[in-house]
Amino acid sequence: MLDDQDSTQSPERLAALYRYQILDTPREPAFDQLVELAASICEAPISVINLIEGHRQWFKAEVGLGIRETPLDISICRHVLLQPGITVIEDMRDDQRLCFNPLVNKDSGLRFYAGCLLEDPNGQGIGTLCVLDRRPRELSGSQRKALKTLADQVLAQMELRLAISQKNELLAQKDLLLQEVNHRTKNNLQLISSLIQLQARRLTNPIAKKALMDTQARISSIALMHEKLYQASDTESVDLSVFLDSLIDGLRDTVSAKVRFEVDTVPVYVSLDKAIPLSLIVNELITNALKYAYPGAGAGTVWLSLAERDQRFELRVWDEGVGLPQGFDIHTSRSLGMKLITSLAKQIGSEAELKALSPGVECRLRFTR
Ligand SMILES: Nc1ncnc2c1ncn2[C@@H]1O[C@H](COP(=O)(O)OP(=O)(O)O)[C@@H](O)[C@H]1O
Ligand SMILES: [Mg+2]
Repeated sequence: MLDDQDSTQSPERLAALYRYQILDTPREPAFDQLVELAASICEAPISVINLIEGHRQWFKAEVGLGIRETPLDISICRHVLLQPGITVIEDMRDDQRLCFNPLVNKDSGLRFYAGCLLEDPNGQGIGTLCVLDRRPRELSGSQRKALKTLADQVLAQMELRLAISQKNELLAQKDLLLQEVNHRTKNNLQLISSLIQLQARRLTNPIAKKALMDTQARISSIALMHEKLYQASDTESVDLSVFLDSLIDGLRDTVSAKVRFEVDTVPVYVSLDKAIPLSLIVNELITNALKYAYPGAGAGTVWLSLAERDQRFELRVWDEGVGLPQGFDIHTSRSLGMKLITSLAKQIGSEAELKALSPGVECRLRFTR
């Protein structure tokens, strides 16, 4: 059998202790409360959750001692590391192993010790929950029982703490992975968009060319969303206003200086399921306003607003241009842009309302997060 010193240095035991990643962490109420309860039930002035490392003992929680660690050579607990359950030493001055210990042999030194081994699920003793007193005394049967129960709770808390930190680590990994996926998706979509653009440039048929360029713009808009997502700290929701701002910035470069944009948005966090359809809708509406509202001289303003109203969000795009063609109805229109807008709106549980202004056109959508 190992002697006391060897048992503290056992690599398996140290590995079991390090698995909890608890050494040198700040005080935590869950552990503080357990030592307070141990001291109170055992009627002892001192109680400690003592974790024994290779060369020191470190206290996750303590009452009545006022220190967080000591070197191992003056540790009392290390002597009980191989003894499962509870060890009681009624008077340490009578114990050959402890009577010369400086904590014990000075005046008003420690006399009474009762400790319960903290064993990990594989039976490795990693420390103790102990109570100490400055007078020799005994521990009653019910106090023993309570000390054992509290020691079990210390270990349960340590396991819980470990499980929570492992879960958080996994969540962080998942976020990183999602960010990576968004990054790659953005790159792939940009590549597809460039391919379509190249293809469109080679075409002479204006209808085919326009169809390809519209498709290219739609794909770019989705790529932009993934770009914003992988830059964001939250990988599951996106601030629609940030995205819309950059969508407009992108369009600014492509239109004549005569067209002005007026953008008024508030932060609105939505899931990706909503963000992508909404971004496509805005892309359609803005490109329509740019294409059709101000023909001829081409000067005018396009407005975009995103606001919160009655616990819902309201997205509006409008212009003061020539207005929709006579008799135009969004629900019966067979053109691809309008079809896209109505079906995407439906997909997010909303409806696109198209309204004639005098002059101009407004499209409004109300949606929830
Ligand atoms: N803001 C607008 N101002 C004037 N006309 C518009 C506006 N938006 C759409 N339109 C009209 O509605 C038609 C259908 O739009 P859309 O479905 O997006 O098709 P596309 O953009 O491919 O022509 C357009 O061709 C245009 O005549
Ligand atoms: Mg269109």
